[in-house]
Amino acid sequence: MSIRKSKYLETPLLATPRLILRKFTLDDAMDVYEYAKEPEVAKYVTWEAHKSIGDAVSFINWAQDRYASDSGGDWGIEYRENGRIIGSLGFVNLETVNSCGTIGYALSKEYWGKGLMTEAVKRLIRFAFEEMKLNRIDAVHVCENEASGKVMQKAGMTYEGLLRQRLYSKGRYWDVKQYAILKDDLIQSVK
Ligand SMILES: CC(C)(COP(=O)(O)OP(=O)(O)OC[C@H]1O[C@@H](n2cnc3c(N)ncnc32)[C@H](O)[C@@H]1OP(=O)(O)O)[C@@H](O)C(=O)NCCC(=O)NCCS
Repeated sequence: MSIRKSKYLETPLLATPRLILRKFTLDDAMDVYEYAKEPEVAKYVTWEAHKSIGDAVSFINWAQDRYASDSGGDWGIEYRENGRIIGSLGFVNLETVNSCGTIGYALSKEYWGKGLMTEAVKRLIRFAFEEMKLNRIDAVHVCENEASGKVMQKAGMTYEGLLRQRLYSKGRYWDVKQYAILKDDLIQSVK
């Protein structure tokens, strides 16, 4: 029997003071539907707001296929206080050859403005540098989505520039702002 080698350590549970980042299970479908049905949550992401719980089940099936292929997420974001799944985050792209990954995330509207996504992103960045052995993590947000840019800044990422019409989503091109953090940045910040 051969032992399967994991490149990205199979989406392990990651804890923060207020959150548990963990794999989705089908039992999470109603929680996912609750946040993903909100047009405001889906406004600046590439996916459409969920129209039924079936969309949430499809999303979880997709996430579970990704666990099977060890592609760096998506983690469900569980709020410790009530045990509910309130969002997701993970790698939308991973380049082994460059040790580089691109992250994406979304949170239930009910929980915005409490610093929760910053807390989750910081934990994922630490995991990615310390355990996945990545060297660079980047992220983009459409220019209008300033709250997302704020999360990137608060997580220690550096603004790298405006990419014109870099993203095609929902029938149009969007200008995006790109941020990144390097392993060296993290080492410098704790010195
Ligand atoms: C973007 C998102 C993840 C932020 O999550 P969050 O947990 O509310 O983020 P945080 O509380 O950690 O930080 C948000 C910051 O943005 C600020 N902010 C909120 N709305 C803002 C706006 N319209 N303009 C500028 N800043 C804004 C908040 O004040 C906060 O900063 P502060 O801590 O200095 O006060 C959340 O709004 C979300 O899920 N949006 C929908 C999905 C999405 O857009 N995902 C990102 C795709 S790139």
